[in-house]
Amino acid sequence: MRKEVVLITGANGEMGHGLISHLAKMENKRIVALDVQPLDQELRACCERYIVGDILDGMLLGRMVVEYEIQTIYHLASILSTKAEYNPETAHRINVEGTLNLLRLAVEQSEWQGRPVKFLYPSSIAAYGIPNLETKNKVGKVKENEWLYPTTMYGCNKLYCEHLGRYYSTHYRQLAVEQRKSTIDFRCIRFPGLISADTLPTGGTSDYAPEMLHHAAQGLPYVCFVRPDTQLPFMAMPDAIKSLLLLEQAPRENLSQLVYNVTSFCPTAQKIHEIVKQSFPAAEITFSPHKSRQAIVDSWPVDIDDSAARNDWNWNPDYSLEKAFTEYLIPAVQKRYRDPEKAS
Ligand code: SER
Repeated sequence: MRKEVVLITGANGEMGHGLISHLAKMENKRIVALDVQPLDQELRACCERYIVGDILDGMLLGRMVVEYEIQTIYHLASILSTKAEYNPETAHRINVEGTLNLLRLAVEQSEWQGRPVKFLYPSSIAAYGIPNLETKNKVGKVKENEWLYPTTMYGCNKLYCEHLGRYYSTHYRQLAVEQRKSTIDFRCIRFPGLISADTLPTGGTSDYAPEMLHHAAQGLPYVCFVRPDTQLPFMAMPDAIKSLLLLEQAPRENLSQLVYNVTSFCPTAQKIHEIVKQSFPAAEITFSPHKSRQAIVDSWPVDIDDSAARNDWNWNPDYSLEKAFTEYLIPAVQKRYRDPEKAS
């Protein structure tokens, strides 16, 4: 008999850290963690197994089918927006071909199991693309089906993979004589910028917010790469994990769409600066906008409309901006950098 497991790709990343800790605490689930980097020591005990490997490695994914009955896949592995621009074609391979491999794996698993495999996919505000700052400020909150003209490879990849998820869940091999009964149960969240106390993102364009905080907590100067008036939606990591788990648990019949926005607060970079300074008055934060990264952020919405998630699966964030900083981020980063073991 194959063991029933939950598969998490990109397990050693920002969101993987939060998700593994929560799943291990909340549920009696066996976790198989996959990442190109070895899983951090403190997460290993939470997992049935951790595998160092690449989502582009077909043999590796094939072996997983042999060994495990995968009930749910959290496909978190991705190259973020700034990093992807340094090698767009490689990013495309990882973000799109990697996702395609996981979708095929899910379909195959569904066939074996005779039931849909849940496929949780984090998309992003990078799927949006607003032509200029004036329009960005004018349109304000955007809905899931508006302004879908991404300017980054990462954004294009995320938007396309949302479509692939829809294709695999409802139209896969639609011309086959025998129609498949069980394919995948694809569920996708478009996340805003995320801020975690435990990890720093690598290669994103919304990274100025978490970077400002983590630099201040370590007593390091920080040069912010966007203008002070730059505004984006953000969310604290515990709320991001909460939303993923809520969507995973929602009854299928309650879901009116496959892709949902979620968000919590939308501060300017100046506001983040001020709130960081309140806790770390000695923080040295300056602004020196990077033209191209600024242009990417300027193409992302000021705020996103998450009313569909609120209506369909009772989404509601726990953390306002103030609460996120005072009750979660500040105490946790202070503790983290007081304990040098955790500051790697
Ligand atoms: N945080 C991501 C990035 O900046 C956006 O989803 O790339």
